[in-house]
Amino acid sequence: MSKISVIGAGNVGASCAEYIAMKNFASEVILLDIKENFAEGKAMDLMQTTALNGFDTRIVGSTNDYSKTANSEVVVITSGVPRKPGMTREELIGINAGIVKTVMENCLQHSPNAIIVVVSNPMDTMTYLAKQTSGLPKNRIIGMGGALDSARFRYFLSQALGVPSSEVDGMVIGGHGDTTMIPLTRLASYKGVPVSQFLSAEELEKIKASTMVGGATLTAMLGTSAWYAPGAAVSALVQSIVCDQKKMMPCCVALDGEYGQSDICIGVPVILGKSGWEKIVNLDLNDAEKAEFEKSAAAVRNMNAAL
Ligand code: APR
Repeated sequence: MSKISVIGAGNVGASCAEYIAMKNFASEVILLDIKENFAEGKAMDLMQTTALNGFDTRIVGSTNDYSKTANSEVVVITSGVPRKPGMTREELIGINAGIVKTVMENCLQHSPNAIIVVVSNPMDTMTYLAKQTSGLPKNRIIGMGGALDSARFRYFLSQALGVPSSEVDGMVIGGHGDTTMIPLTRLASYKGVPVSQFLSAEELEKIKASTMVGGATLTAMLGTSAWYAPGAAVSALVQSIVCDQKKMMPCCVALDGEYGQSDICIGVPVILGKSGWEKIVNLDLNDAEKAEFEKSAAAVRNMNAAL
């Protein structure tokens, strides 16, 4: 069984720990935060659910003591500032870049073989930063954005179709920003049947638009960014890695010519297994989708320049 560390015990970090523990595939989850006693408190609260929820994963809290994270198989980075209503993910770059860089250094000192999952926003740029500053092999750095955006896309599709989202398939590629993500409506399906058979072009455009601002809509409603679906997306991604499930999920990874891009981390479908992302799946995009991907990559590259 595996040891997983989650850095940042705020809304998203605690939700990651909870969903990972509930799925019972890890022996230990270390929750670490810079705020005194905060992670310890969250860990204790979660551990007090074990008798009720029946999971065996040990959740341990730590205030900035990275030795507790030693030999983690996967490290999830959620530390940083979330956006507030009206803010874009991109506005967080200055503060979160410093946090992500320091956290990466500390984690790798104690878990040199860990696979790193980046959640902090702006996620594409934070993933690129993690890759550039750590010098780790590209397969061990994975940004979680596409898995969440795709879950939101499937939700909006399922609502419009009036069917369970477990029966709907769909992927969101490109950047993890309100204007950079690309919900692939043409490839979305209900039980293998293209959704265009059930929904009009107009309805699909509406679903695409709702997906793109899915995070912002929740931020406006909650006063801070969402955590349940982000935590669930992280747990699914981490489970595919540590259980070597070889699931396909859109994730933010370093491209080396794939999709016509290099020197960038951006969302594309990948296979997730024991060694991190193991393979990039090449989609046969049409001209319009290719143009959208290029536009998205240009925006992400522009953001990376601000580092
Ligand atoms: N080391 C460890 N923890 C830190 C550090 C640091 N250097 N800096 C900040 N933190 C912690 C904070 O103390 C806080 O508990 O990170 C936690 C962030 O939690 P929240 O403020 O609740 O934010 P959350 O909603 O969890 O979002 C975290 O994920 O989705 C993204 O945009 C979001 O970048 C944000 C991140």
